[in-house]
Amino acid sequence: MKEFALGKEPNAFLKKHIHLLPKGKALDIAAGEGRNAVFMAEHGFDVDAADISEKGLKKAQALAREKGVRINTFLIDLDQYQIEKERYDLIANFYFLKRRLIARIKKGLKKGGKVIFETYLLEHRTLGTEGPKQAKYFLKPNELIRLFKNFRILFYREGIFREGGKRKAVASLIAEKR
Ligand SMILES: C[S@@+](CC[C@H](N)C(=O)[O-])C[C@H]1O[C@@H](n2cnc3c(N)ncnc32)[C@H](O)[C@@H]1O
Repeated sequence: MKEFALGKEPNAFLKKHIHLLPKGKALDIAAGEGRNAVFMAEHGFDVDAADISEKGLKKAQALAREKGVRINTFLIDLDQYQIEKERYDLIANFYFLKRRLIARIKKGLKKGGKVIFETYLLEHRTLGTEGPKQAKYFLKPNELIRLFKNFRILFYREGIFREGGKRKAVASLIAEKR
C-alpha cells in the first residue's frame, strides 16, 4: 500500500477532543484516506466516510481493516450530494472548505448533534507550501465562527499552531445544533 498523504494518524484537534463528541452516527466530509473516519470508528462511532476519490476511499477501507474496525464509504461528489436531514450525531469536516455545504451540514445534524471543523486560514499561505493555493479554499479571520453563529460554540480557536512538528494557520471549531 502506497503512502498516506496526510498519514494514518488522526488530526490532532480531533484526537484531543474526541471525548467531547456525542457517540452515534457520524459523517466524515471529504474523508480522504480515512485517518479521521477510522479513528472515530475506533472510538465507537458508526462512521459514514464521504469523498470523491475512489483511491482515497480504498485506502480508508484498508486502514479500517488494519485497525480492525468498520467504516461505511460513500463515493460521492459533495457539490451534488444532499446530506439526509437530521441523520447525524456528529459531522466532521477537516481540511476541506466548501462554503455552500455549511447549510447542508447544519440540516444533516440531529438537534444536540455536533460539528467538528478544522481547516486553513488565509495566513497559512505565508507559512510555506503545504496545502492548497487558491484563496477561496482558505478561511478569512473569524469566518468559521460566524458560519456557525446560530449553533452553540463549545470550542473555538484560530491562529498559528505547531502540531506534528509543523506550523499551521488554522481555525478549529466544535459547535452544537440547538
Ligand atoms: C486535503 S484532503 C482532506 C482529507 C481528510 N478530511 C483529512 O483531513 O485527512 C481533501 C479531500 O477532499 C476531497 N474532495 C475534493 N473535492 C471533493 C468533492 N467535490 N466531493 C467530495 N470530496 C471531495 C479530496 O478527494 C480529498 O480527499
